[in-house]
Amino acid sequence: MASGSSVVRMAVIGAGFMGSQHIGFIRESSRAELVAVVDPRAAVLGEVGCPTFGETVSMLREVQPDAVVVANPNAAHVETAEVCIREGAAVLLEKPVAGSYASALRLVGAVERYRARLLVGHHRRHHPAIARARAGIRAGEFGSIIAVSGLWAARKDDAYFTDTPWHSEPGAGVTLMNVVHDLDLLRHLCGEPVEVQAMSSSHARGLDVEDTVSLNLRFDNGAVGSFLASDAGVSPWGWDQATEETSAFPFIPDTDAYRIVGTRGALSMPDLAAYTYDTAVSPDWHSPLSRTYLSAGPGNSFLRQLDHFIDVAVGAAEPLVSAADASRTLALVEATALSARTGKTVDLLRFRDALAATAQR
Ligand SMILES: NC(=O)c1ccc[n+]([C@@H]2O[C@H](COP(=O)([O-])OP(=O)(O)OC[C@H]3O[C@@H](n4cnc5c(N)ncnc54)[C@H](O)[C@@H]3O)[C@@H](O)[C@H]2O)c1
Repeated sequence: MASGSSVVRMAVIGAGFMGSQHIGFIRESSRAELVAVVDPRAAVLGEVGCPTFGETVSMLREVQPDAVVVANPNAAHVETAEVCIREGAAVLLEKPVAGSYASALRLVGAVERYRARLLVGHHRRHHPAIARARAGIRAGEFGSIIAVSGLWAARKDDAYFTDTPWHSEPGAGVTLMNVVHDLDLLRHLCGEPVEVQAMSSSHARGLDVEDTVSLNLRFDNGAVGSFLASDAGVSPWGWDQATEETSAFPFIPDTDAYRIVGTRGALSMPDLAAYTYDTAVSPDWHSPLSRTYLSAGPGNSFLRQLDHFIDVAVGAAEPLVSAADASRTLALVEATALSARTGKTVDLLRFRDALAATAQR
């Protein structure tokens, strides 16, 4: 559609937990109109205020939306996105970009071939605190980044696994379902990881997928980092509890999810508490330490993501998270799983090259 058009006609594909939220966000937007919903369970969806379809192709042909939000199970992402971009629709594709790095590369090829407008739904990058933190890190406000640590832990309800079988099957698990967001943000904030080491456990839930993971990263700029996650335990720590992004999680205002240590300062996020030594000359660990809170405007990541997606759809912006970019996050998730299985450090460049070579055969 032309960039001057006022309202983007948008369909949602997959109307489960996340798709229903996208339906709500689209309804809130004055720049988008919900024109169709696709879900094999269309018959039980109830009133959504627009035509519903059981599968994507007939919806695309009949409704010809300008843009689609794809929020179906991970394994269906690439096939669905390919069908949509072939029909000329802009795509907001939920994370992870694909069920595997190899299939993500196929999508990257299709995006290039069709010159498609595709944004991957790593929504946290759109949060005002993350935008502020990234700008500060890039401007050297904290000196050179030396280290980063992060934590995401919460106890998922048992129905999350029993009612939605794919949540406990290979292709899900806390790393791919949740940590993928954190790894994407660590890449966005700290640079490209070059090595990963991991340990994982399925001890707490006893499922085929891991419920807990601990991982170490080395970044291309020399920084190192660690991240710990679990979907089986009680905790106030993690992005979802530290922000008011969705009412589905309790908000704990004084917690954080990530801490970055630099040569001139430190920063926790998303609360944006910045720490520096108060002494101008030769500051060191004996110097007084001051804390100030950086300011970032208000804003919800999902609504800002939708606004950005509309800009991408009308050709007014390049995607903040492209398929190629999100593929690297997915490769990092797969490398984490490999390291956890083998107990070995994984070199990410070699790992991606090996997977790409296999995918081409
Ligand atoms: N960005 C986030 O914070 C976030 C949060 C949760 C889930 N997600 C992502 O959203 C996607 C959906 O997750 P969910 O938790 O909502 O799952 P869900 O199982 O609740 O919903 C998926 C829906 O897709 C439907 N579906 C299945 N196959 C389909 C197909 N071929 N075409 C259209 N619809 C189909 C199912 O009937 C179901 O209603 C996943 O990729 C997940 O990783 C993102």
